[in-house]
Amino acid sequence: MALNVVILAAGQGKRMHSDLPKVLHPLAGRPLLAHVIATARTLKPARICVVYGYGGEQVPAAVRADDLVLIKQAPQLGTGHALRQALPHLDARKDTLVLYGDVPLIAESTLAALIAGAGERLKILTAELDDPGGYGRIIRNAKRAITAIVEEKDATERQRRIREVNTGIMLLPGRRLAGWLGKLSKRNAQREYYLTDVVALALKDRVKVESGAPRDNCEILGVNSKQNLARLERIYQARTATRLLEAGVTLADPKRIDVRGELVCGRDVRIDINCLFEGTVELGDGAEIGANCVLRNTRIGAATRIAPFSMIDGAAIGKNCRIGPYARIRPGTRLAKDVHIGNFVEVKASSIGRGSKANHLAYIGDTSVGRDVNIGAGTITCNYDGAAKHRTVIEDGVHIGSDVQLVAPVTVAKGATVGAGTTVWKDTPPGGLVINPKTQQHRPGWKRPGKPVRGKR
Ligand code: UD1
Ligand code: CA
Repeated sequence: MALNVVILAAGQGKRMHSDLPKVLHPLAGRPLLAHVIATARTLKPARICVVYGYGGEQVPAAVRADDLVLIKQAPQLGTGHALRQALPHLDARKDTLVLYGDVPLIAESTLAALIAGAGERLKILTAELDDPGGYGRIIRNAKRAITAIVEEKDATERQRRIREVNTGIMLLPGRRLAGWLGKLSKRNAQREYYLTDVVALALKDRVKVESGAPRDNCEILGVNSKQNLARLERIYQARTATRLLEAGVTLADPKRIDVRGELVCGRDVRIDINCLFEGTVELGDGAEIGANCVLRNTRIGAATRIAPFSMIDGAAIGKNCRIGPYARIRPGTRLAKDVHIGNFVEVKASSIGRGSKANHLAYIGDTSVGRDVNIGAGTITCNYDGAAKHRTVIEDGVHIGSDVQLVAPVTVAKGATVGAGTTVWKDTPPGGLVINPKTQQHRPGWKRPGKPVRGKR
């Protein structure tokens, strides 16, 4: 069904105690509003309007996209006033679905059910809550028909005891919208244009007023405080963990995994506790992620094991690799099959060939490493001369001893061995041994300076 969608997102969110507009606070790494926009898109509406206000141009700057109409509401005079700002952009032949930018967990299936069906009607998504405090209450007559929505601040004691609330999400008939919005008044406790007053206008125009319910009450939770935000984050993460378990992923503890983006897993993937996944992460069949790892925008090959406390960002890691513990792999890194990167090894913008190893304490930056290379502990590629970055090339079969500096740009050709403690500043020919001649002396009878003894001169 062709549809207009309007997302109300102009409110300040005073109780967040933040300079950031409420709808831009992140849930699972993305602004609240971005979640609502993504859900709206799944409905394939003719148009998505976002009404923003508080926080100036921060909101449009954060979500701008070709398929969105961004409309400023200033000053913010209530939900009815907010929707009125979008009116010139709405197709009157289509119904309008109102969503809230601070209600991020609303599910596509709930909205699909709300908008299904034909005929002119006002449809309100309502929910029964144990604690309805703060919400508008749904007033029904003896025949259970909705007769009004009363805001808490305008409600009588008796009305406040009603547990059915207005979630704020509603579907309005396109042909009636302009007329109704024109008739809203500010005669209420908050001196605002209440969108909820359309109920009375619909009844007057003999338009049916119906309700729909969410599949799960969690969907309609709004964010008004940091407590709310933290709670929604846990709900979101619990759902993600459930989906992973259902897909066959082994999670050591479904309460101790956070996914801020998309995590795609093959078969028999195991994830230990306290791992964080950001952006798009793919884990191949049989991959194992140890405790306390952070992986961002990364692909991990089949049967690869990442040991605890490793951080991997923007990398493509091949099959059957052994990474960590305590490895740091930075953007632009590509590891082939069977590569070992050990503890306290940092790799940046480098490619490492099949079977190569750097097992301890090294920095490999802007480097091409061939196959079956061994890089000793303490090896550093000196890639930065203070002005520009330069590349290091280490060809197949090279063996680099401990504590070697490779001053880029430099190439160590095939099969060479570089002795411990060598500073390589010139390209080396294939094979053979590369060392910086140094002499070792021994001075017999040499004495360490002693500490002065008290009382003596
Ligand atoms: C509104 C509903 C209430 C419902 C509750 C659900 C009205 C009059 N009341 O109340 O029945 O139970 O939501 O959370 O509609 N907004 C604007 N511009 C404005 C005012 C609000 O864009 O001038 C946006 C906010 O950013 C927010 C949404 O509209 O996304 C709701 O605003 P909020 O102030 O939270 O409404 P409530 O008073 O809680
Ligand atoms: Ca609210």
